[in-house]
Amino acid sequence: MKLDRTLPKETIDRQYDYMRRVKEWNPDGLKAHVLTFGCQQNEADSERIAGMAKEMGYEITDTVADADLIVINTCAVREHAELKALSITGQFKHLKEKKRSLVIAMCGCMVSQEHRRDNIKNSYPYVDFVFGTTRLYTFPEILFNCLLTRKRSFYLDAGDEGNIPEGLPVHRASKFKAWVSIMYGCNNFCTYCVVPFVRGRERSRHKEEIVKEVTALAAEGYREITLLGQNVNSYGKDLYDDYDFADLLSDLCKIEGEFLIRFMTSHPKDASFKLIDVMAANDKIAKAFHLPLQSGSDRVLSVMNRHYTRERYLTLVRYMREKMPDIALSTDIIVGFPGETEEDFEDTLSMLSEVRYDNIYSFIYSKRKGTKAAVMEEQIDDTVKGARFERLLAVQNAINLDKNQKYEGKVETVLVEGYSKTDKSRLTGRSERNRLVHFEGDEALIGSLVKVKILRGDLHALYGELVKN
Ligand code: 5AD
Ligand code: SF4
Repeated sequence: MKLDRTLPKETIDRQYDYMRRVKEWNPDGLKAHVLTFGCQQNEADSERIAGMAKEMGYEITDTVADADLIVINTCAVREHAELKALSITGQFKHLKEKKRSLVIAMCGCMVSQEHRRDNIKNSYPYVDFVFGTTRLYTFPEILFNCLLTRKRSFYLDAGDEGNIPEGLPVHRASKFKAWVSIMYGCNNFCTYCVVPFVRGRERSRHKEEIVKEVTALAAEGYREITLLGQNVNSYGKDLYDDYDFADLLSDLCKIEGEFLIRFMTSHPKDASFKLIDVMAANDKIAKAFHLPLQSGSDRVLSVMNRHYTRERYLTLVRYMREKMPDIALSTDIIVGFPGETEEDFEDTLSMLSEVRYDNIYSFIYSKRKGTKAAVMEEQIDDTVKGARFERLLAVQNAINLDKNQKYEGKVETVLVEGYSKTDKSRLTGRSERNRLVHFEGDEALIGSLVKVKILRGDLHALYGELVKN
C-alpha cells in the first residue's frame, strides 16, 4: 500500500496565518540567528527555519549578540555533536539575562529524543521552546504561542511517523548552491544509528514538486543542486510502483540550465546499476559518488544490519568505474564498532587499498542511546579506537596525496565559491569530482562554473590556472 505523506495545503496555510500574526505582533526591526549543527539535511531544514523567520518579519543575522530570536538546529549522530550544541546553548544564557525579550528555541535531531528534551527542560530554563524534526513546519505556531504567553513548550513529534510540508518559505544561504530534500526519514535501522529514531520513517516528496523546485532554482541561476535524503536510492518506494531515484535523476537532467546535480546519501544495498547508467549518460550529474561503506568486514556489516557484503559493494564500484572511469568515490567509515576485532579492522583497511577512495569521512564509533549497538557487549576501548582511527587516516592520506598528484595536467570543471581562506588573492572552489581547487582569478567569477588546469596537487587541495575559452 503506497502512502502519501504530503500535508494538506490548509495545514501549511494555517502556518502562513501564524507567520502573519507573529509579524503583526512583533515590533519592527527584529533579528533572527539560526545556528546549525550536523549534516546537509539540517542545513536544508535551517534554510526553511530562516525562511519562516524572514516571513515573520525577522531580519536574518550572523551575529548572535544582535538576535531577538535564536534557533539552534541540533544533531544527534554522535555524542560530540550533542555536547557541542549543549555547550553553545549554555553560552546563550547571558544573552537572555541581558535581553529578557530574547527567544531561544531548539530543534533538530538531538531534541527529538525524549531524554534530551527532558534534559533541556530541566537544565536549560532559558530555552523557550523545543520542536522535533517532524514538527519543523509548526515553528510559526509555536513561536506565536510563546510570544503571546511567554510559556515554555516542548514538542517532540507531530504525532505520526513523519509528514512532508510543501510550500514553506526558504531563505537559501548561497546564491549558487542549493539543497533540495527529495525524501525524509530512514527505515534502515543500522544498529549504530540514531537517525531512524529522530527523523521518522522514509517518505518521498512528489516528483512533480521536486521538478518544480529544481526548475525554479535553475532559472534563478543556481549552479549546483544537491538532492538530499538519508537513503536517496530508495526514493519513491513509498509513493510509486514504477518510478525510482534513477527515473527522477533522468527527469531532472531534462531541465534547462547550466547546473550540476549531486546527491547524497546512498545506501549500497539499494544503489542500482540503472542509477549508474543514468549517471554515466548525463553530463549534468556530477561524476562523484558518496557510497558509505561503514566497515570492510562482512561480519561487522551483518551486525551493523547493513544488508550487503564487501563483494556486493565491490561489484557496484567495479560497474561504476567501468561506466565512468574517472568517477570520484567517497565513503563513510566507522572505526571501533562493538566487537570489531583487529582482523575486522584490517578488512576495512584493505577495502581502502582496494577501492582507492578519493575521500573518506571516518568516525570513531559513538554510543547512541536507544540503538542496538549501544547495549552490545564488547564495546571497544577508547585507546584502541583512537589508534585504529589514526591508522585509517594514514592509509587514506597516502591515497589522497597520490590521487591529487594524478590530477596534475588535467582540466577540471570548478564551481567558484569565494576567496581562499588562507590567501585572499586566490579564488577557491570545488571541482565536479569534489576536490578543493585554488587558482587566481577575478571576483566576478564567484558563483560560476569555470575550467581550471591543475598544475599541482597536495594532500588537501589542487592548485591550478584558469583556462580561457
Ligand atoms: N558513531 C559513529 N559514527 C556514526 N555514524 C552514524 N552513526 C554513528 C555512530 N553512532 C556515521 C556513519 C554515517 C555518518 C553520517 O555518520 O558513518 O554514514
Ligand atoms: Fe543511519 Fe543507516 Fe539510515 Fe544512514 S541508512 S541514516 S546510517 S540508519
